Amino acid sequence: MPPTGQLGADSIRIFSRWVSAGMPRGTCGETPPPNEPDPNATGDDDDGGADAAPPPPTSVCTSGVMEPEFPQLPRVLENMNPGMACIACHGEQGGPPERVAGTVYPSLHEPNRCDGVADLKVVIIGKDGNAHTFPTNAAGNFYGVENISPPYRAMVVRGNEMRIMQTPQMQVDCNGCHTEWGEGAPGRIMAP
Ligand code: HEC
Ligand code: HEC
Repeated sequence: MPPTGQLGADSIRIFSRWVSAGMPRGTCGETPPPNEPDPNATGDDDDGGADAAPPPPTSVCTSGVMEPEFPQLPRVLENMNPGMACIACHGEQGGPPERVAGTVYPSLHEPNRCDGVADLKVVIIGKDGNAHTFPTNAAGNFYGVENISPPYRAMVVRGNEMRIMQTPQMQVDCNGCHTEWGEGAPGRIMAP
């Protein structure tokens, strides 16, 4: 959307920032008429109109903990390479044969090797209706060797809050799409 051509970069940035901020609800306030100063303006321009475009979304390691760079392995092997595509690398480099793996983060854009959120549950429901639950560890990583029948549905659960992936997916290397800036996904898998 819109059906005719791409949105402008400024509009995309505003929208990304809203998503990064956790999609806060707004209120149905009034839009000031075009020639009156905007009461919400920060005053950094003097044209009486809209402010300059907000800065682009940034990527932050919220936990502040970065795991060492491969091939130097972390002391706790299961904390390795949070945010990176686990299964692709295990296939190439001889890691364990996970059937599903990924990392959950507190915000949408976080760099690779940054620790995510511990003690959440990732629930994956296969096409066959079987539900598989994986806990996130100290690095926010989750993984398992169970066979998932695709297309599957996925959600992250904390108590009775959850985030649900709307679209069923085939690929079980979650971080392959849920990268720092998203490749076929909006960004990281986020904690509720
Ligand atoms: C850059 C390549 C690479 C990436 C990315 C990677 N791994 Fe690994 N992983 C390896 C290799 C190689 C080993 C085997 C290391 C060894 O046995 O010394 C391994 C081992 C492991 C082990 C230990 C298995 C055991 O036998 O105890 C776990 C658990 C693991 N990885 C989980 C993950 C998870 C979860 C991710 C994604 C968040 C991930 N890895 C990303 C390369 C990688
Ligand atoms: C082929 C790309 C792709 C793969 C692989 C993928 N996802 Fe997603 N995911 C998306 C897209 C696109 C969205 C946003 C639209 C939607 O919800 O369907 C999303 C959204 C989500 C959300 C909801 C996010 C929110 O903020 O509410 C969760 C949770 C999620 N994914 C978990 C997972 C898990 C767990 C895996 C691995 C088992 C996974 N995803 C694999 C593309 C992918």
